[in-house]
Amino acid sequence: MCGITGFTGMHPAAPVLLNGLSRLEYRGYDSAGIAVLNGNAIHIEKVSGRIAKLYEKTEGGKTVPGTIGIGHTRWATHGAPTDFNAHPHLSNDGRFAVVHNGIIENYLALREELIAEDYIFHSETDTEVIVHLLEKYYTGDIKAAVMKTASRLEGSYALGILCTDAPDTLFAVREASPLILGIGVGEQYFSSDVTALISLTKNVIYLEDGEIACLTPDHVTVYDCTGKEITKPISRVTWNVEAAEKGGYEHFMLKEIMEQPAAVKAALTSRIQGEKIRLDDFELPAEILRSFHKIIITACGSAYYAGCSGRYAIEKLCHLPVEVELASELRYADPLVDTHTLVLVISQSGETADSIAALKECRARGATIIGIVNVVGSTIANLADYTLYTRAGPEIAVATTKGFTTQLAVLYLIALSFAEKLRSISPEVYSSLLWELKQVPKYIQQSIDMNYQLPTLSRRYSSRSLFFIGRNTDYAVALEGALKMKEISYLHAESYAAGELKHGTIALIENGQPVIAVCCNEALADKTLSNVVEVKARGAKVLALAFHGNSRIISQADDVIFIPRISTIFSPILAVVPLQLLAYYAAKAHNCDIDKPKNLAKSVTVE
Ligand code: G6P
Repeated sequence: MCGITGFTGMHPAAPVLLNGLSRLEYRGYDSAGIAVLNGNAIHIEKVSGRIAKLYEKTEGGKTVPGTIGIGHTRWATHGAPTDFNAHPHLSNDGRFAVVHNGIIENYLALREELIAEDYIFHSETDTEVIVHLLEKYYTGDIKAAVMKTASRLEGSYALGILCTDAPDTLFAVREASPLILGIGVGEQYFSSDVTALISLTKNVIYLEDGEIACLTPDHVTVYDCTGKEITKPISRVTWNVEAAEKGGYEHFMLKEIMEQPAAVKAALTSRIQGEKIRLDDFELPAEILRSFHKIIITACGSAYYAGCSGRYAIEKLCHLPVEVELASELRYADPLVDTHTLVLVISQSGETADSIAALKECRARGATIIGIVNVVGSTIANLADYTLYTRAGPEIAVATTKGFTTQLAVLYLIALSFAEKLRSISPEVYSSLLWELKQVPKYIQQSIDMNYQLPTLSRRYSSRSLFFIGRNTDYAVALEGALKMKEISYLHAESYAAGELKHGTIALIENGQPVIAVCCNEALADKTLSNVVEVKARGAKVLALAFHGNSRIISQADDVIFIPRISTIFSPILAVVPLQLLAYYAAKAHNCDIDKPKNLAKSVTVE
């Protein structure tokens, strides 16, 4: 979704802004623009389409001189992705320019009010009201105008503001949208995302809701919503620049798939000390765990499917009922949540609007919240009572891979550690599962190495729409496998609980229909195998996914992908890897824009 960036320093701003915008590309966007202040004039350049066009139009920034500026990538919500609707927006008097990430919910009323006062609008965006409000409220004190404007806005916003009367000062405001300040030497920055800052500085300040920042080349001042200066801690980012670059891979997605053994290891290692699991900063003692009558896992997209897999592990090991709810549904469901409910909110970005809203809804009803989050300092990490970081490192490809498997790793840690405390499994079972969990990074590597034939198989199975089937843990894997396929290859891919085939879907099976059958749940593999036989009898072409050594599957399926044998509850973290690769190679064969699929955004910060 939209991303903003800002720079103030002693050398040309435009190249820094363009570079910052390129690093925000992965969030998803359909137009982009920059504004640079030079002397007492603001020069704006914007384009619909890719940032490469903006580079070209400005000759890499050369045609937009000046040492202070703001930039924006827009993911259209209010108005089409045209040049006019692209940010930055300029006030009628040319004094203010604004970039905005978020949604102004009361923009229609504000727009009518401003039009009645003769302000002229040049776009259909909700954002444009902000720049006119700044002009309206400006009487010589920029900070006061910013505060007054913010007080009129309802919704979510991260704002970057330029004003011709402050030739070296950038203004930034945050309310329910991510915004991070980068602290440099003789220059300062802001961005929606740490990945756009790490090539410039590793020292950052995470702004919180209601805070306003003024940045000059030598100084950063932060104020609370009443205008009082406050002291903010400077955090040190531990990611390095290489982590946010392709490192020789053709796509970020492939790089991130290959990084999974290391990422999952990072998620597990420091939390497993000998025979003990230590969940970072918090330990919930058995008495507190016993006070929970149920667990709700809530999330969106792949994170929701991670929850679907995690549910089996927690229920099986902890004997606690677990509900998995889409955050977009839970937030409006009037949920049965109280002080005896433990809620796990899973989010790679930590900024997904629906997940944040579901968290707040459950919090208001008294639930205890654990956030399972990748991005440090993100909104969900800040709002949760306890946060477990997934430690995947920066994930740039829109379709998540290592973000997903590290979420699973953390869910397995939670399941095992709670089970040990609740004594719901024996010490022997605990030790043996913990030993297996430690082997997962190695097994993921084997799942990658074993399946060198996936490029060929992906061509054979991606010629038309695909069905993914499985039962129980395998069904959860099928859901994520189908999502990956449709996200990046644009092929129609649906997943079904295999037992439901007979209740409708089998009517769609005809000659040559590709079916991907996940058969890693040993207790249910024979059942799924019967479904394989049924769809084959109707002409389907079946690619099965099974544990290494499962010879029965070879005789039934047309092709088989194998993964190392592991306990069923952990099988999703291995089984999903070949399906990620299958989707990757299918998308490659169809010449799709793998890292930035059309219409999708990495961080869905609006409802
Ligand atoms: C988008 C991404 C998905 C992700 C989902 C939830 O749709 O493309 O990969 O699973 O958002 O995002 P979150 O950051 O909350 O995990």
